[in-house]
Amino acid sequence: MAEQILILDFGSQYTQLIARRVRELNVYCEIHPYNKIPTLSDDIKGIILSGSPCSVRDEGSPDLDFGRLRGEIPILGICYGAQLMAQKYGGNVAPSEIREYGRANLSHLDMHSELFKEMTHGSQVWMSHGDTIKELPKGFDIIAGTPSVRIAAYKVQGEQTYGIQFHPEVTHSAEGKNLLRNYVVHICGCSQDWTSDVFIDATIEELKKTIGDDKVVMGLSGGVDSSVAATLIDRAIGENLTCVFVDNGLLRKNEYEEVLISYKDMGLNVIGVDAKQKFYTALKDISDPEGKRKAIGRTFIEVFDEEAHKIEGVRWLGQGTIYPDVIESVSVNGPSATIKSHHNVGGLPEFMKLKVVEPLKTLFKDGVREVGRALEIPENIIGRHPFPGPGLAIRILGDITPEKVATLQEVDHIFIQGLRESGLYDQVWQAGAILLPIQSVGVMGDERTYERVVALRAVSSVDGMTADWVHLPYEFLGKISNDIINKIKGVNRVVYDISSKPPATIEWE
Ligand code: XMP
Repeated sequence: MAEQILILDFGSQYTQLIARRVRELNVYCEIHPYNKIPTLSDDIKGIILSGSPCSVRDEGSPDLDFGRLRGEIPILGICYGAQLMAQKYGGNVAPSEIREYGRANLSHLDMHSELFKEMTHGSQVWMSHGDTIKELPKGFDIIAGTPSVRIAAYKVQGEQTYGIQFHPEVTHSAEGKNLLRNYVVHICGCSQDWTSDVFIDATIEELKKTIGDDKVVMGLSGGVDSSVAATLIDRAIGENLTCVFVDNGLLRKNEYEEVLISYKDMGLNVIGVDAKQKFYTALKDISDPEGKRKAIGRTFIEVFDEEAHKIEGVRWLGQGTIYPDVIESVSVNGPSATIKSHHNVGGLPEFMKLKVVEPLKTLFKDGVREVGRALEIPENIIGRHPFPGPGLAIRILGDITPEKVATLQEVDHIFIQGLRESGLYDQVWQAGAILLPIQSVGVMGDERTYERVVALRAVSSVDGMTADWVHLPYEFLGKISNDIINKIKGVNRVVYDISSKPPATIEWE
C-alpha cells in the first residue's frame, strides 16, 4: 500500500470519523488499536492519536510508549491523545472546573503554526472532555487557546509533534477539515493521490495476481457493497466469477426481477435462484427474531452451497466486507474485537473450503459508493437504502407467511415509491414499513373492521449505529397513510415511528 496515515485508537466514538475525514482528503489511512502498532515503514507519513472515553488519570487507562515515535514521525494527539502525551512528559492533567463540552472559539491562535495555515481567529471548534491540560511539560508551547481553555493546542519544540484538545473531525469544528489537511499535507507531506481511480486500478491488479486463473463464486444481495465488490472482481477476472442472487421471498416488491436485470446489464455473470418456497418452509411458525435469522442463514447457505457446487473447480468466495466490519475497535474495558455478528449474513461455511477474497475491506461505506460511481454502476444500486440481510422477515413481527410478506411488500412499495416521487428518498438514510402483530378496530362504510396495523419508519443516520427519525412532512405522511389504507386489503391503521436510536433500534424485529 502507498503512503498512509496511521490512526491509533484509544476507544473514542469519533475514531472512525477521523479516518473518514483523512480519506476525504484523498489520503489513505488505517486505524489500529493503540496497543497493536504496526511496524513503522517509510510509507507511514504520520500518526494521529484518537480521543478516549477514559481519563489519563485513571489507573490502567490506555497507555503508549512514545519513545520510539516522538521526533521520528509527525504526531497529532487529539483530546485524550494530547492529554496522554502532555501527562507522560511531566505536564499536569486534571479534571476541568468548567464544562468543556460543545462549541468553543479558538482565540490566541499562533498564526505561524503550520497546523493553522489559512485558519481564522475565533474559529469554532468542538470540545468534548472532562479533563483538561493545566500545565504543559518543558519544551511544549501553547499554540491555541479559547476564552475558557488556556491550552487548546500545543506543539513540541523542534519536533512535528502536536496536541489539540478539540475534535477537528466533527462538523461542528468549522475549520476542522482545514486543520487535518494542514496536518496530513503540509506537516506529514502526503501527496493526496489516493483516489477512487487509483484504488480501482490497484485493486484490480491485486485481484488478478491473487486469483490468477481460479474461479470465484459470490453471493449478491442487491446492496451496494456486494455489487461493487463483484464488479471489481468481474473487471479483474471476468467470466471466472460466478455471482449468485437468491430470491429468499423476503425482498421488496419486484426487487428480485429488477436487480437481476441491472446485474445482467452490468455484464455480471449472474445466476438467479428462486428459493422462495424453501425459505418460507424453513421459517414456518418461527416468531423469535434470532430464530428467523438462523433459519434464513442456514437456508441461504444450503441454497448457495448447492449453486457453488455446480461450478467446477471453484476456489474462492467473494465477499463485500467493508472496513467498519474489520476494524478492531477498542472498548473502554480493554481492547476487543467488536463485530456485529447479526450483520455478517452469509458468512463462510467451514465445509465449503473456499478461500475468501474481500476487495472492499479497506473502504468505508462512502468510499464504496464513490468507487461504485467511478465504476459506473447504476444509481438505482449505488444510491439505494440499506436493507437487512433477513429482509422483510425482521419487519414482520411474529411468524412469517407468504400472505403477510405479500401485504408488507405492497405497503412498503407505496411508502418507498412515495418517497421517490416526492424527492424525499435521497434525504432519508433508510426507510421501510413494519407489519405489526396486532389488529385494531376501524370503520369502513357502515361496517366495523378489525384489521392490521402497519408502522412506517424513516431514519437519518451515518452508519446505522445511531439514527434519528426523519421529520417527514405531515402532508406526505397523510397521503401515504390514505393510499395504504385504501389500497391494501387487511390494513386499516398506519402509524409513524418517532423513536431515535438509541434507545430504540432501526428495525423492530
Ligand atoms: P438496528 O435495528 O440494529 O439496525 O438499529 C442497524 C442497521 O443494521 C441493519 N440490520 C441488519 N442487517 N442483517 C443485516 O444484514 C440483520 O440481521 C440486520 N439487523 C439489522 C438495519 O437494517 C439497519 O440498517
